[in-house]
Amino acid sequence: MGEAKTSLIEGFKAEHAELGAGMAALTGTMDRLQQGTGPAAAQMLRETEQFFRQVLVPHAEWEEMTFYPGVGDLVRRHGDVNATMLIDHREILARISEFVRLAGEIESGAADPSLVDRARILAYQIRALVEVHCLKEEEVYVSLLRRHLSEAEVVHALAVGDQMGHD
Ligand SMILES: [Fe+2]
Ligand SMILES: [Fe+2]
Repeated sequence: MGEAKTSLIEGFKAEHAELGAGMAALTGTMDRLQQGTGPAAAQMLRETEQFFRQVLVPHAEWEEMTFYPGVGDLVRRHGDVNATMLIDHREILARISEFVRLAGEIESGAADPSLVDRARILAYQIRALVEVHCLKEEEVYVSLLRRHLSEAEVVHALAVGDQMGHD
């Protein structure tokens, strides 16, 4: 692989690793705040705000200005336009499985009080993912369908979906 490609991919992965570490620090901060442990609340929250301002927001801005336009044509020519949506489904379903597992433990009378807390946090994650996922479907898919698909094309599209076992 060429130098530019390697540095783009490595740089991209490194930035996502940094976001991952920042996300872990974010939830760690909030856990410590709730438990009343760790450094002063104001300082912890300031660091969190700094992370958003200095790392996360610039990363998203760079993607919108440079990365997405750069790879847009690649996705259209070689990618699957629905791939990101399927990844959403996969990740939502994985969290639902974990939620169901925790719920089973709670229902069977497990005494560990942290179970409910873990299930509650998972419930908020599932909710956020589902909310964003539905926004994507409505803002992108439904609005395209509304503007560009004829009545006959909708009927045809649904018939194809039925043949594939969907309803
Ligand atoms: Fe990203
Ligand atoms: Fe969906």
